[in-house]
Amino acid sequence: MQKKINAYCEAHTSLLMPELYELERETHLRTLSPQMISGKLQGHLLSLLTSLAKPKTALEIGTFTGYSTLCIAMGLPNGGVLHTIEVNPELAHISRKYFEKTGLQDRIVAHIGDAKKIIPSLGLRYDLVFMDAAKFDYPVYYEMLVESLNPGGLLIADNVLWDGKVVSKANDADTLNMDAFNKLVHNDARVENMILPVRDGVMVARKLD
Ligand SMILES: C[S@@+](CC[C@H](N)C(=O)[O-])C[C@H]1O[C@@H](n2cnc3c(N)ncnc32)[C@H](O)[C@@H]1O
Repeated sequence: MQKKINAYCEAHTSLLMPELYELERETHLRTLSPQMISGKLQGHLLSLLTSLAKPKTALEIGTFTGYSTLCIAMGLPNGGVLHTIEVNPELAHISRKYFEKTGLQDRIVAHIGDAKKIIPSLGLRYDLVFMDAAKFDYPVYYEMLVESLNPGGLLIADNVLWDGKVVSKANDADTLNMDAFNKLVHNDARVENMILPVRDGVMVARKLD
């Protein structure tokens, strides 16, 4: 049933730009873990949240082939910049190609390396953050970034339902880690939060004034 609902939602969601379809195909043909891509529904959600939040400075952790990067970049206001970090240098030839193809390259600053090292070196403040890299590091990224989030800024994190395991009796380290992350955000008085049951679960936290 869930599969049918997802397919229905996707079929009734507009495609932001034709290059995203092309990129999704190329990601399936040329990468080993294509299922990591955000896809149409979540991509549209990211773009919509970005266009509502109008961030001047945004950050993405986990570029992969650039699908979510393009969706966020598309929603940026004039002059807005998205910094995106990817540890695997072998993906850059795909992401860069699509940044140029869509004409969005001037809004995107791509960093190659470990986000835990790059984030402190940037020393920026953000209006929107999308976390989608190593799930085990979510609590680390969160603590690094929540103070750098401007009042009203959004912190969005993917995969927070962890294939539904956070509501099962699973007690493997990854599930416990994701549950601990969700509780960390939910109990943090600096933000208000919600979890959207879209795809694998999307956490949206808004920094309070
Ligand atoms: C789920 S994928 C990102 C998918 C992408 N946001 C999208 O929607 O298409 C996670 C990516 O994070 C990268 N990654 C993992 N650990 C990282 C780290 N410490 N720093 C930066 N990137 C990392 C992986 O190489 C992988 O490409």
